[in-house]
Amino acid sequence: MGCSPSFIEDKMPKIIYKTDLNNVDWAEMKTTLCQDAFDNGRSPEQLKTSFENSYAVCIAYADNQIISTARALSDGVCNAYLIDVWTLSAYRHQGIATTTIQNILSRLKGQHVYLFTDDVPELYQKLGFVEQPIGMGKIVGKWLGHEK
Ligand SMILES: CC(C)(COP(=O)(O)OP(=O)(O)OC[C@H]1O[C@@H](n2cnc3c(N)ncnc32)[C@H](O)[C@@H]1OP(=O)(O)O)[C@@H](O)C(=O)NCCC(=O)NCCS
Repeated sequence: MGCSPSFIEDKMPKIIYKTDLNNVDWAEMKTTLCQDAFDNGRSPEQLKTSFENSYAVCIAYADNQIISTARALSDGVCNAYLIDVWTLSAYRHQGIATTTIQNILSRLKGQHVYLFTDDVPELYQKLGFVEQPIGMGKIVGKWLGHEK
């Protein structure tokens, strides 16, 4: 029995990339990140604030489900930081993170874009990033502890 075109379409939902935060279900994002082992402790409200306070965001959807994110902090002039780059496990190695990052970079022309990765330098190298040691970092107080 052969596969009809509609069957193939059903198995491969269209990926939609959005650069706005309209109708984002932050609880869904939190649950999906948890299930995909990419939760860093932010509540749905903190995820919302993180994304809303970003200079550029890109969220990919398949069948209305969030399957990939990327966002950048920027001063809008010369310096930006790429963060929250993630693709749901079932959708990896299809170029989705590459597309979300390229979308973000298209809005950062003329800026130096920095990022930190300990897992996947290949992803960023393919997009033209080069290592620029030494990165340094510090958590001020306790992670996600915002008490004064
Ligand atoms: C890293 C991650 C975002 C990649 O998402 P993706 O949509 O699969 O990425 P792409 O399909 O655009 O990958 C493009 C290229 O990057 C490289 N790459 C992607 N994932 C990789 C991995 N786990 N290990 C090594 N190289 C990888 C490959 O060269 C890949 O090309 P290929 O699929 O032809 O081999 C995804 O695996 C993920 O969410 N991982 C967990 C979260 C994470 O580590 N985020 C990065 C934080 S810095």
